[in-house]
Amino acid sequence: MIGDQKVLFSGMQATGNLTLGNYLGALKNWVSLTDEYQCFYCVVDEHSITVRQDPAVLRKRARALLTLYIAAGIDPEKACLYYQSHVSAHAELAWILNCFTYMGEMNRMTQFKDKSAKHADNINVGLFAYPVLMAADILLYQADIVPVGNDQLQHLEITRDIAERFNNIYGDVFTIPEPYIGKTGARIMSLQDPGKKMSKSDENPNASIYLMDDRDTIMRKFKRAVTDSEAQIVYREEQPGIRNLIDIYCSCTGKTPDEVVREFDGKGYGELKTAVGETVADTLTPLQERVAALSKDKAYIDGIIKNNAEKAQYFANKTLRKVQHKIGFPDRIR
Ligand code: TRP
Repeated sequence: MIGDQKVLFSGMQATGNLTLGNYLGALKNWVSLTDEYQCFYCVVDEHSITVRQDPAVLRKRARALLTLYIAAGIDPEKACLYYQSHVSAHAELAWILNCFTYMGEMNRMTQFKDKSAKHADNINVGLFAYPVLMAADILLYQADIVPVGNDQLQHLEITRDIAERFNNIYGDVFTIPEPYIGKTGARIMSLQDPGKKMSKSDENPNASIYLMDDRDTIMRKFKRAVTDSEAQIVYREEQPGIRNLIDIYCSCTGKTPDEVVREFDGKGYGELKTAVGETVADTLTPLQERVAALSKDKAYIDGIIKNNAEKAQYFANKTLRKVQHKIGFPDRIR
């Protein structure tokens, strides 16, 4: 708890171009959660270097992501928006937690297996220990809840295991975090293969709407979206392409699938695609305009980066000092 609010932690990587899926599935929910929780939203740049990065690109994207958090509507006075690398406690706690995590546990992580297959030439120790750094992120702030996608649930589970193991030895040091599954479970699928999630690392650019796509590009991608030959606008599992379009439309407008099905009664796929494309463009255009305006205000963004890093350091160091004392490191002389 901070004051009378529960604590929420989440983070995103600044690698790849963020997609509509990242926005509707995560970022949009992050905004509304700031009323109820004391939120820490981190740009997890330390996680990004488990895969080789171009330094200039990483720096630029990290700043763009932090700017996007604000442009999406997160109030940086209310929520703490910061870079993981600006708070050294993340790396320090990760080291300590490494010593409370078993090789066997990490070997079971499905993301590690996937990523090692994909980056077979660079299976580094950081990639292996990635979930431990993630555990440190969460536990440093004594987070009660963590909004994550399905792909990260296993990492959250291991975070809970590590925290419980530590608490069993040293007493109640860490809050045990719960996953937060959004109410509007907007799981946005690929436009080219509605059987898989829209992903920023998809090789086919037509599969994803990128947050910075212009209106023409958005309209073109929706026009090409894969549907089916049923020729009826119904919300059901057997028509995953149509269902995805309806989900996107609902997520942007707040309508329910039933309402959308009625709205398009007797109409064709072309009309649905045009309507969804326009709604998405109407959603993203103001977001892009806010990003552009904020990007010009260097002093404002710099101020947020500095103040929020200090705020994050304050809370993170409180936990880190407690942990260091518990495990027997000599106290600091003040
Ligand atoms: N691993 C997460 C992802 O790729 C990002 C992340 C890092 C994260 N640390 C976190 C998410 C802590 C939630 C909480 O999506």
